[in-house]
Amino acid sequence: MRSNLPSQPPSREEGGDGTVSRTVPPSHSVLSEATREAIVALKTKYPKVQSAILDALRLAQDEIGYVPTEASAEVAALLGVSPHHVHSLATFYTMFFTQPVGTAIVEVCDNLSCALWGSRRVLARLEQELGITVGETTPDGSVTLLRTIECLAACGGAPALRVNTTYHEKMTDEKITELVQELRKTT
Ligand code: FES
Repeated sequence: MRSNLPSQPPSREEGGDGTVSRTVPPSHSVLSEATREAIVALKTKYPKVQSAILDALRLAQDEIGYVPTEASAEVAALLGVSPHHVHSLATFYTMFFTQPVGTAIVEVCDNLSCALWGSRRVLARLEQELGITVGETTPDGSVTLLRTIECLAACGGAPALRVNTTYHEKMTDEKITELVQELRKTT
């Protein structure tokens, strides 16, 4: 994860259609040259450049770990689109993080089946084991207990949770303890 991000986004002139007519490169890029090139290359991948924005934000997040305002502004500059539009997408989709997050991101299903099988107990146990509450990150930056979420489509394994892209099902207190120990070891 990067720190000391520049405070000034790139400047540009916006057209009424959300594109920009002229882009001035940022004086301090928050993205590597490789990521910048990959984002520019996306412009030829889609019929409309707006369709490349989510891919470009994903590339930015893959590099930095989240999408700070400076990164979404740089994405906009590289694609030649409105920075406001890019920022609105980065803040709308929950797959993007606009604040730093831990290496492991834990999300607990709180929908009906999981609720009936004890998702509240799972959440409380996680908070206890991790020493943080929902929305917080452990001081060592290893784990973010991000949020409760809607059905993971793993109702047969309720109560279920997700760590990054990996599902963990039928969570008991013992399994939560083991999971937290594993996350602290591997992150
Ligand atoms: S309700 Fe939790 S996975 Fe479906």
